[in-house]
Amino acid sequence: MQVILMPTSEHAVNLVAYIISEKLREKPHLVIGLATGRTMIPLYKRLIEMHKNDGLDFSLAVTFNLDEYIGIPPDHPGSYHYYMYNNFFKHINIDPRNINIPNGCAIDIQTECKRYEEKIKDFGGIDLQILSIGESGHIGFNEPLSSMFSRTREKSLSPVTIEQNKHLFPNPEEMPKRAITMGVGTILEAEQCVVLVTGKHKSDIVAKAVEGPFTAMISATALQLHKNCTVVVDEEAGEKLTQKEYYKWIFENEPEWSKYRELLRRNILI
Ligand code: GLP
Repeated sequence: MQVILMPTSEHAVNLVAYIISEKLREKPHLVIGLATGRTMIPLYKRLIEMHKNDGLDFSLAVTFNLDEYIGIPPDHPGSYHYYMYNNFFKHINIDPRNINIPNGCAIDIQTECKRYEEKIKDFGGIDLQILSIGESGHIGFNEPLSSMFSRTREKSLSPVTIEQNKHLFPNPEEMPKRAITMGVGTILEAEQCVVLVTGKHKSDIVAKAVEGPFTAMISATALQLHKNCTVVVDEEAGEKLTQKEYYKWIFENEPEWSKYRELLRRNILI
């Protein structure tokens, strides 16, 4: 795992957008795992700008979203189908046939989860998985005690997650208590993971996820096992990390970050 500390949330978002755009330019058929939530909204805005202003082409890209609520239709304003369409997909040139989001209204949820896993495999697996970390420490909707080997399945949402997300529903009481989520095992199979976390309210959970002991109580700690995982945080979210100086040294000195150092120096990351 690598941790990159950026001075502001704008820098953090823009760095992740650059990483995605480079991968996509290198491999137009990129299979991208996508996340939802407040953290991702500025990232999608930046990618839309890159599409409109710099010709970033999504026409061959394939996407798999991490999760979806169970029991609300795709046109419900709280659903992740609605979120993804309105915050991202309708603004870019992605082929709708290449968009994958679990169907939370499937009659047989178990079969739907199995279908989703198989489809990821059919596409050769996820090349680049974008993630954030929820306040309960979840990735996707892998709530405390999720098995580190879990696959796409139905999961009950924790009280912390319900509290975190219910205000995103026009009527908070309508927030479903269950969701379909890729499993921790599914996420760990992605070729590369990039985790974006911003804001002071995430500083405790970021410190636990990155530097704390590996535990099923915090599914994000599983990312410590991943062979190629980069956590990008702003100063506020990284505030409680104990090895900040080391992480800064890595960004300042490792050759793989040299082009991004240059972007930062030229103020292109804001
Ligand atoms: C949500 C999603 C996660 C997301 C996380 C963070 O509930 N299931 O995929 O990364 O929680 O949300 P936010 O960015 O709003 O803090």
